[in-house]
Amino acid sequence: MKISKEIEQQKQYIEKVKELNKDKKLTYSILTMGCQQNENDSEKLCGMIEQMGYVKATNPEEVDLAVINTCCVRENAEDRLFGKLGELKHLKEKRGTIVAIGGCMMQEKHITRKIKESYPFVDMLFGTHTLHKFPEDLYRVIEEKNKLTDILDIEGKVYEGLPIKRDSSVKASVTIMNGCNNFCSYCIVPYVRGRERSRMPKDIMEEIKELAKQGYKEITLLGQNVNSYLRVERENNIQFEEYEGINSFATLLHAINKVDGIERIRFVSPHPKDFTDDVIEQIAKCDKVCKLIHLPLQSGSTEVLRVMNRKYTKQQYLNLVEKMKTRIPNLTLSTDIIVGFPGETEEDFEDTLDVVKKVHFEQVYMFIYSRRIGTPGDKMEKQIPDEIKHKRFNRLKELVESQIAENNQKYINTIQKVLVEGKSKNNENMLTGRTDSNKVVIFEGKDDLINEIINLKIVSEHMWYLRGKQV
Ligand code: SAH
Ligand code: SF4
Ligand code: F3S
Repeated sequence: MKISKEIEQQKQYIEKVKELNKDKKLTYSILTMGCQQNENDSEKLCGMIEQMGYVKATNPEEVDLAVINTCCVRENAEDRLFGKLGELKHLKEKRGTIVAIGGCMMQEKHITRKIKESYPFVDMLFGTHTLHKFPEDLYRVIEEKNKLTDILDIEGKVYEGLPIKRDSSVKASVTIMNGCNNFCSYCIVPYVRGRERSRMPKDIMEEIKELAKQGYKEITLLGQNVNSYLRVERENNIQFEEYEGINSFATLLHAINKVDGIERIRFVSPHPKDFTDDVIEQIAKCDKVCKLIHLPLQSGSTEVLRVMNRKYTKQQYLNLVEKMKTRIPNLTLSTDIIVGFPGETEEDFEDTLDVVKKVHFEQVYMFIYSRRIGTPGDKMEKQIPDEIKHKRFNRLKELVESQIAENNQKYINTIQKVLVEGKSKNNENMLTGRTDSNKVVIFEGKDDLINEIINLKIVSEHMWYLRGKQV
């Protein structure tokens, strides 16, 4: 069936559920456990759910539809899901709440088996490739009062035209590609998200222009490997319609940079191996592209990188950083690092510390290696004992925090352009925003500054945020 027809069908189910729910004043909750792409999927779920007549619950005890959008990139997510299911059981018994679980973890058979066996009260399981069918699945659960599993093993298509309820009115995420073809040996994502496939340039541009019209100032482009946007299509001669000259990630940046109203463009995650010169050139040239670039390192050891299947060496990574620093004025970098990958020796770990010392990252997201069933890493022999993993993690954390503290000092007394996002969560009297380099800045100001880019003088630093003053 054509995609537009499938979506049309789902819109009819939205109407049907809305009719069933008429005059009932039903509420929903959603728990999002994963990455920004998972969050973007949740925004689409919320869009569909709200059109079906549910409003967001304000009291966690009074929920009629509870949705969990899962992640399985690391083990702790599983503990969290099963903990949450324990809580929902009581809600189900008390109120008959419909419980629906979706997302990446549902693509793992051992997990869905466990849920069916140990948590039989769950009404609905849906995967990453069947998100768009949520209205139909929910309709069947309500009408037929059956438990339902709707999970596709093969990768889905790229669906356009789903309703969406965005979390922020200042910044918006736009998924530009789904899936991943890289198969880093520690990572579960390619197995649960399927093969890489890009959205069409016209669909992306129309979404961004619409966002600009609605007043959004910042756009974050999402994908597991954004800088290989449209590569699979180009390499396999898959026909796609060029639009505004877009046929690659670099040309996409160029086109978005011209959209009136959009002031900032970010993207996550690029892969170092795909950081071609045309992308570097566009980052430098496009004034709206933020100069904080996320460049996942994972390990600083060439041998570990080889076993991880990352396709670059320590030196190649450092060379790329050097090249980017010379060509992109005011560049700052953030990264992801895994500690304790199988076979990581003390020497390997010191190579990671060495890269961190040399690059001076603005932000480092640090993870302890977590075995994922079905990945090559899980079957590797030289697993690192937990104690060593934790010790190394703490050593890395200490280094990173000392660098961040030092780096924060550089901001003091500078003037930063800050996009004001809203009231500070911890202090109602303060506003919060972010610099180009994605640092949080808290300051005193009037509400009408929200969604404006303003100049702030940085007056103090507090590890995870800066204090600013209007100038
Ligand atoms: N596609 C993105 C993000 C992948 S998941 C990228 O390549 O950067 C986000 C991060 O989780 C990864 O960058 C990696 O650092 C971490 N990660 C993935 N699998 C992991 C595992 N098995 N154990 C620990 N950390 C992991
Ligand atoms: Fe996972 Fe590697 Fe793909 Fe990122 S690039 S999603 S780390 S396999
Ligand atoms: Fe997690 Fe899936 Fe994102 S596994 S990190 S939610 S792609």
